[in-house]
Amino acid sequence: MHSIDILVPSHKSKYSVLVGTDIIGQISKFIDLSGYSSVYIITDSNVARYYLDTVKDVFAHELHRKDIHTYIFQAGEQHKQLGTVEAIYHDLAEKRIDRKALIVNLGGGVVTDLGGFAAATFLRGIACINISTTLEGMVDASVGGKTGVNLGILKNYVGVFAQPKLVIADSNTLKTLPDRVLLQGYAEVIKHALIADKRFFEESIKISPLKMDDDMLLQAITRSIEIKAQIVQEDETEKAARKLLNFGHTIGHVIESLSMNTDKPLYHGEAVAIGMVAESYISYLTGMIDENEFETIENAVRNVQLPIRYIAKTTVKKVFEKLVTDKKTESGNIKWSLLMGIGVGEFNVAVDDKFVREAIEYILAP
Ligand SMILES: NC(=O)c1ccc[n+]([C@@H]2O[C@H](COP(=O)([O-])OP(=O)(O)OC[C@H]3O[C@@H](n4cnc5c(N)ncnc54)[C@H](O)[C@@H]3O)[C@@H](O)[C@H]2O)c1
Ligand SMILES: [Zn+2]
Repeated sequence: MHSIDILVPSHKSKYSVLVGTDIIGQISKFIDLSGYSSVYIITDSNVARYYLDTVKDVFAHELHRKDIHTYIFQAGEQHKQLGTVEAIYHDLAEKRIDRKALIVNLGGGVVTDLGGFAAATFLRGIACINISTTLEGMVDASVGGKTGVNLGILKNYVGVFAQPKLVIADSNTLKTLPDRVLLQGYAEVIKHALIADKRFFEESIKISPLKMDDDMLLQAITRSIEIKAQIVQEDETEKAARKLLNFGHTIGHVIESLSMNTDKPLYHGEAVAIGMVAESYISYLTGMIDENEFETIENAVRNVQLPIRYIAKTTVKKVFEKLVTDKKTESGNIKWSLLMGIGVGEFNVAVDDKFVREAIEYILAP
């Protein structure tokens, strides 16, 4: 098992992320449960089917009692909304959950974002832990303290920074994930490698995560979390270095939301993979990386079986306009997070519109 400590400078505290196989059953070794008045597990309808009984039993056994509360909401990004949080608040109140309770978020990024937000805001904050069950969740969503929900179609518009007490990433849970869901999470692994660690990049792109054994996957997850940890503890609230984590996401978010209204919606990680190709192309056009480096990146994304083009009935104009409208709330020009080399990210880069258009054209070309 690997343990990564994440410092939270604003609270002068830290929490651990535990990565391993068969570790869910050993939770009590890693957190002292004796001080908590009750345990309240939040999960979604898919994850509940596979893991809720196991996790419930672990806590019931550790706490020597059966009154472990659970809340299951309908799986899916469309339920990451305030309405779901409000329903949870009512349930928490009805069950008389007090400030000494422990909330356990069991699931992927949707559960840890939403459950983390509910925990941070109910009674002005209750302790929570994340048991992450998707690759996206393990390497990204469950770590770093960003919690929140969507406001209608506006992604992650409502939320707070709040850190969990502990994060558990048990590779066993990845076995029940559909291939496409596992694969899309790997885009964030490649992102972490590209912005911070060339050697890790070279290692992580050798084979697709769908063909990796447990050990290889665990290594990729661990290194990926270490990179994110280093960045978020340096810049908790995204004033500076944390912006690096947005690499691939500026154009990625635009095509993710454009794809929602089509018959082929993209998963977040798939859109980020295409976004990373586009933003690496911008890095190339602006002279920050050379053609060889760009081709290495594009081939790597393709080789791990992630998409590198956005195939849809759209135009450069439409994508560009959406990009500009989405970013309207930011004053002035878009500040890009790009690459200065493989393994070297750079944030707050201003880019001429003509390069942005050219990069969009590139990813729209068949
Ligand atoms: N807070 C952050 O820093 C951060 C970072 C990245 C992503 N996110 C958020 O995370 C969300 C995406 O995360 P995700 O990809 O994990 O989505 P998700 O939580 O919706 O999970 C994807 C699907 O897999 C199912 N599932 C989860 N675990 C499973 C398992 N072990 N076996 C079988 N099925 C399982 C879920 O029910 C869901 O249908 C987005 O809302 C995104 O905004 C947040
Ligand atoms: Zn992402």
